[in-house]
Amino acid sequence: MEFTLREYSPSDFDALFEIDRACYPRGIAYSRRMLRWYLSQRSSLCIVAQAAGGAEPAVLGFLVAHAHGAEGYIVTIDVLEAQRRSGIGTALLQETERRLAKMGVRHVGLQTATNNEAGVAFWQRHGYRSSGVTRGYYLGRIDAYEMFKELQPARPATA
Ligand SMILES: CC(C)(COP(=O)(O)OP(=O)(O)OC[C@H]1O[C@@H](n2cnc3c(N)ncnc32)[C@H](O)[C@@H]1OP(=O)(O)O)[C@@H](O)C(=O)NCCC(=O)NCCS
Repeated sequence: MEFTLREYSPSDFDALFEIDRACYPRGIAYSRRMLRWYLSQRSSLCIVAQAAGGAEPAVLGFLVAHAHGAEGYIVTIDVLEAQRRSGIGTALLQETERRLAKMGVRHVGLQTATNNEAGVAFWQRHGYRSSGVTRGYYLGRIDAYEMFKELQPARPATA
């Protein structure tokens, strides 16, 4: 499906919440309160992928990240199952990395479950490397890779 990227707007909240619940097992998916908290931080950045041309469903995926000085953190990336493997995750990540680099972020971190084959393959494909495993990161029983990537500094805009 054709899609475009745009900024998150508060009217997207319910759609994002439902997509997150569909993407992650119970107990790992965010509660409304947690998702609202992540989205409301001053350091938060959220890009939404939307179906082009008024197609349903409107929101196909999203990525939430935080930036603190030179440190960036990917909170979550979620693409509707039926829309996967068509480049939406890549587009969301590339746009986020571009914006983070422009904000001065040099180092991006995230966690992903060691049993999330698609997630691990996706991050590796995009140059993320594991710096170790946190035992029981999810629900006290699912291990997570600590993954990171160094971003190239954003090029100054040419006159
Ligand atoms: C991980 C996720 C965001 C990827 O989104 P996507 O839109 O399918 O990603 P893309 O189409 O841009 O895939 C880019 C590349 O990542 C890798 N990849 C993605 N999904 C994969 C899978 N299921 N198996 C193997 N490699 C995969 C491939 O290299 C792929 O390139 P290719 O399709 O040309 O082979 C999506 O699977 C998802 O939302 N999963 C549920 C939530 C989740 O696990 N998020 C990440 C954990 S933090």
